[in-house]
Amino acid sequence: MESPIADKHIALIGFMGAGKTSLGGEVARLLGRPFIDLDEEIERRIGRISEFFERSGEGAFRHLEATLLEPVLASRRQSVVALGGGAVTIPEVRDALRAHALTVTVDVEVEEAWRRVRDSDRPLARDRAAFQALFEERAALYRRVAHAAATDSHDVVLAAAAVHVEPGALERLGELAPGKEVALVADSHVAGIHGAAAQLALGARLQSTHELPRGEEAKTLVACERLWRELALTRAGTLVALGGGSTTDTAGFAAATFLRGVPWVAVPTSLVGQIDASIGGKTGLNLAHGKNLVGAFHWPVRAVVDPGLLQTLPESELSAGMAEAVKSGLLAGERLWELPLTELVRRCAAFKAAICLRDPLDHGPRATLNLGHTFAHALEAASGYTLPHGRAVALGLAAALRLSGLSTEVVDEVLRPEPVRVDRDDAWAALERDKKGKGTYVLLEAPGRPVVTSLADEDARRALDELIAR
Ligand SMILES: NC(=O)c1ccc[n+]([C@@H]2O[C@H](COP(=O)([O-])OP(=O)(O)OC[C@H]3O[C@@H](n4cnc5c(N)ncnc54)[C@H](O)[C@@H]3O)[C@@H](O)[C@H]2O)c1
Repeated sequence: MESPIADKHIALIGFMGAGKTSLGGEVARLLGRPFIDLDEEIERRIGRISEFFERSGEGAFRHLEATLLEPVLASRRQSVVALGGGAVTIPEVRDALRAHALTVTVDVEVEEAWRRVRDSDRPLARDRAAFQALFEERAALYRRVAHAAATDSHDVVLAAAAVHVEPGALERLGELAPGKEVALVADSHVAGIHGAAAQLALGARLQSTHELPRGEEAKTLVACERLWRELALTRAGTLVALGGGSTTDTAGFAAATFLRGVPWVAVPTSLVGQIDASIGGKTGLNLAHGKNLVGAFHWPVRAVVDPGLLQTLPESELSAGMAEAVKSGLLAGERLWELPLTELVRRCAAFKAAICLRDPLDHGPRATLNLGHTFAHALEAASGYTLPHGRAVALGLAAALRLSGLSTEVVDEVLRPEPVRVDRDDAWAALERDKKGKGTYVLLEAPGRPVVTSLADEDARRALDELIAR
């Protein structure tokens, strides 16, 4: 699967005053899609909606809404479209949404909606009591029609990427994982901590449970082949992966290849998994001569992200995740690493999801996610993979900031990178070999403005040398 919404429009529904127009514009910008505001389209054709309403009545207006929405949703140029508050009362609109769109309802408190629209000329916002009654009547309809609910653009992006972030979500795994029968695949260490809760939540649909070796040991052909042999799923079944990025990479690859592809659900349990590895559809294994050299794009039908699971994560693994959070914040131009953990997870996950939805097959802006990673991979390789990835990324980010002419203060304060003891020539050789290196590096014109650029060898080598202890 290229991405969950590759052939779908994103339709925003919800009550008047919910903020669908500004939110829709923001989502369109994040996903690189055109934005269509249906009310604006209508006013372009017929003049003021309030006057049309007076003149021709609500029935004629609803007919017009349905008529103008039809070509938008039938178009193969996928867009973000904001609908008027009453559009989903029309059965044809609901049918068209079901066929062509991921529909998200934008939540708002009735007080706030009233405050925003009471002084407008909207025909259905003239009387406070009638407004409240209509709000309550419509609320249930919006919930029924929508695939997801949102309060901001990040929620919409997460829904579009099929990522569900919620503390306590593991307990709801049974509802969140589709499929007639389920095979649970867990990191052997994580299985002992969270496996029983996952099994309980999956209930009678759980057909089998499988363990993968703990951590990176999972990402081998041997472990994957054992899993292939153990699985008894049919193609109506779903594989559920519980663990960090190593587990979701391996189980996701097994799902991509078993019976030529079965659906899978990622339940990431590490910070790296929750904000990075489970998002974007990359799955894969390591070979003896390099990491992630075998793999497939196979988006999980859902990533169930429960930040509560991070309570049992060792401190060193949390630091590895913070390095990725700092990277995301630098790329986004926002201090995401300073947010409380649940919000940090939601925002960093949404940041990665937006880039991957824009570039599902990694031909464009997704390359920017490599910020700091070219140097990190070289140091890891030169250390014989004894250097923890998070420490390597912290050093790589410092190098990228220095080469960008920016202060390294954030990285120094949050990640405290320490120079490593590796052979300088080995590190340089690894940098030159790096499959993603190829002479290009990700730097920042400023926080929030990444560029993929080339560097003179001597500059790259000097930056690398500064990361190595004397
Ligand atoms: N597919 C992608 O887009 C992508 C992106 C980034 C990283 N990755 C891959 O992810 C892997 C790294 O993932 P990771 O950092 O999650 O490491 P990991 O999966 O190897 O897990 C690290 C350790 O944390 C433990 N652990 C995980 N969750 C726990 C919990 N809740 N409580 C206690 N212990 C827990 C594991 O048992 C393991 O020992 C790498 O192989 C990397 O290549 C993939």
